[in-house]
Amino acid sequence: MRNMSESELTDVVVERYAGTTDPRLKEILQSLIRHLHAFAREVRLTEAEWMAGVLFLTATGQKCDDKRQEMILLSDNLGLSSLVNMVSANVPEGATETTVLGPFYVPNSPDRGWGESVLLRESDELPLMIHGTVRTNEGVKIPNASIEVWQTDSNGMYDIQDETQPEDNLRGRYHANKDGAFLIRTIRPTSYPIPTDGPVGELLQATNRHPFRPAHVHAIVSAPGYRTLTTHLFDVEDKYLDSDVVFAVKESLIRTFVKNESPADAEKFGLHGPFWELANDFILTKAA
Ligand code: BEZ
Ligand code: FE
Repeated sequence: MRNMSESELTDVVVERYAGTTDPRLKEILQSLIRHLHAFAREVRLTEAEWMAGVLFLTATGQKCDDKRQEMILLSDNLGLSSLVNMVSANVPEGATETTVLGPFYVPNSPDRGWGESVLLRESDELPLMIHGTVRTNEGVKIPNASIEVWQTDSNGMYDIQDETQPEDNLRGRYHANKDGAFLIRTIRPTSYPIPTDGPVGELLQATNRHPFRPAHVHAIVSAPGYRTLTTHLFDVEDKYLDSDVVFAVKESLIRTFVKNESPADAEKFGLHGPFWELANDFILTKAA
């Protein structure tokens, strides 16, 4: 067919992919083509506009290196990472909800002992002690789970963004004990801007959006036989909870950090003064 209408063109292109061997790949590609064509028709996309889009995507890819993932940042800023998380997470009622991984996770972070601090610099800030149990929704304790945590320092930067921080500052892998209990020592997280010195920053500026994420601690909790949980713990007092730049806040992940001034409680955690406290269980789901 040589003289096609717009919608006939879409049908012809979709049909040209009908021979894709992998059925899931075929489903994804044909649906993507239909939606991309519908988008171009809906906004009456001009060639100059599409070229601007191509150049933007090219610049986004070119900004990536082994420490910077601008493509993930773009997906996060378009809400696509959160949507994919929603569509695919399938967390049963009662289990801890998941949210986005983000681009600042570093695999193989160092082991931390019971209540050992992940803060590797001098500080007069109150410690934040996070304690609880890794368990199932039915109350079965899960022994020896791994709990990886990471967060920004109080200047709003992750260690890998900031040469002034010691390596692995505010990140580490804790281990639950045989009863599923764990004790994490950190500091209270702060809200922070995502990197804005690349194409995603230009996108935020052009669309009059702020670049902030509400304060959170990241966690990945894993144990043999259970689905790995990738999540955040958000601070209830943060002013950006309702406007997270990457749309990743879930109500069930918002926590209240309680100031504890009891000397007896401090002693239990090996501390000598007031501290922030968060009692938080991680509730895992059996692997399929
Ligand atoms: C983060 O929380 O580390 C993050 C998540 C998505 C985009 C940028 C940062
Ligand atoms: Fe973060």
